[in-house]
Amino acid sequence: MFYTIYDVLLFQMKKKGIEEKELVTILKKNGFKAKQLELLKSNCTTLLPNKLLDKALEIAGLTNLEMNLMLGNVPLEYEDSYLENISRIAKFLTVRELTKNNKNVDAEYRTSKGELYHADCLDVLPMIQSESVDMVFADPPFNLKKEYANGRNDDLSISQYIEWSKLWLDECIRILKPGGSLYIYNIPKWCIYYAEYLCSKICFQNWIAIDMKNSFPIKDKYTPSHYGLLYFTKGTKPKTFNKQRLPIQTCRHCGGEYKDYGGYKDKMNVLGVNIADVWYDIFPVRNGKNRLYNELSIKLLDRIISFSSNEGDLILDPFGGSGTTYAVAELLNRRWIGIELGDCDVIKKRMTSLEKDRNALEKINDEKNVLFTKKSIKLRKKNGFWLPKEEK
Ligand SMILES: C[S@@+](CC[C@H](N)C(=O)[O-])C[C@H]1O[C@@H](n2cnc3c(N)ncnc32)[C@H](O)[C@@H]1O
Repeated sequence: MFYTIYDVLLFQMKKKGIEEKELVTILKKNGFKAKQLELLKSNCTTLLPNKLLDKALEIAGLTNLEMNLMLGNVPLEYEDSYLENISRIAKFLTVRELTKNNKNVDAEYRTSKGELYHADCLDVLPMIQSESVDMVFADPPFNLKKEYANGRNDDLSISQYIEWSKLWLDECIRILKPGGSLYIYNIPKWCIYYAEYLCSKICFQNWIAIDMKNSFPIKDKYTPSHYGLLYFTKGTKPKTFNKQRLPIQTCRHCGGEYKDYGGYKDKMNVLGVNIADVWYDIFPVRNGKNRLYNELSIKLLDRIISFSSNEGDLILDPFGGSGTTYAVAELLNRRWIGIELGDCDVIKKRMTSLEKDRNALEKINDEKNVLFTKKSIKLRKKNGFWLPKEEK
C-alpha cells in the first residue's frame, strides 16, 4: 500500500525504468513549482490546483479512482458499490507468496534470563513462537536521516517506512500472548500511522505523551515537545496491569504542589496519585558515550515493564540500541529477547556490569507509591506546607 501520491508516482515510473530525479524533471516540466513539489511529497495535495493533480494522474497513467485505491482509500461515492461487489473484487485478487525470512540466527550473547541477537529484527522475529511473549516494547529508528552505523537507510519514503514498520508490527502482534501488551515509542508523525494500523488488529489503550525536554522551536509550527508512546493490548483488556502511583508534583525549590488539590488533600491516597497519560518525569539520558544509541531513560522502561509484566514474564524489544530494555528486564527478574542490527558491544558491556542501572532503579523505586518524595517532605516541613499525619 502507498501513503503518498508522490510514492505512487515513483512506483509507476519505476515500472517504466524512470528514476526519482527524472520524475522530478518531468513534474517540473509539467508545471510543478518547488513549493508544489513539496506539497506533493508531503501529501498535502488538497492545495494543489486540479490542473496539476490531473497532470500527476496523467504522468502516473492512473484514473482518480485507481490512485485512491492505491492509497488504500475508497472514495465515499464508490463505497456502496465497493461493498456490494466485495466478493467479486476479492476473486480478482491473487495471493503473492510472502518471503518470510527462514534464516536461523544464533544468539550472540546470553544471560540466565535473556538472549541477544545481532541481526535484523525481520530475520529474528519469525523464529519466535506465536503467543509466547508477554510484553513488547519497540523504539524503532525514527527515519530522520540519522547515522546508526548499522548499514540501514534511515531516510526512507513515508510509504517505505510504514510498510517496513508493518512487517515488524505484524510479527510483534503474532508473538504476543493473548492479553499481552505492545508499547511503541516514536514521534507523533509516525505514531498516527502506527495507531491507525494497529487499531485494525489489536486494542488501543493509550497514547501516552512523553514530555520532550530538549525541544527546539520550528518555524511556522508549534514546537514539537512530546514523544508518543502507544499502548495497545492483544485483546480488550491487558492480562497484567500492576498499577503504581507517583508522588504529587512539587516545586523543587519550595516543595509546594503545582496542581491545586483544594481541600481534598486529606482524602488523598497516601501511595500517591494515579499515573495519567502525560508523562513529565522522563528525562533524556545524558550519557555522552551512549548518545549514539539513543539511550532511553530506565525510568521509562521500569514503568512500563513493572506495569505490564510480572517476574518471570518474557519481554521483547526488537531495537536494542544501548540495551535499556534488557538491563531493566534483567534487574526486574523478567526474561527477555533482544535484537540489534548494529554494534552489540555496548549492550553486552552494559549487561555484564549492571551496577549503575541497579542504583538508578533503587532511586526510582524510592520515588514510587508515595504521596511526597523524601526531598519534598523536607521542603514542605520547612515551608509549612500540608503533609499527611504520618509525615508530620
Ligand atoms: C532508537 S534506537 C533504540 C534505543 C534503545 N531503546 C535504547 O534505549 O538504547 C533504535 C535501534 O534500532 C537499531 N535497528 C535499526 N533497524 C534495525 C533492524 N532492522 N533490526 C534490529 N535493529 C535495528 C538501530 O541500530 C538502533 O540501535
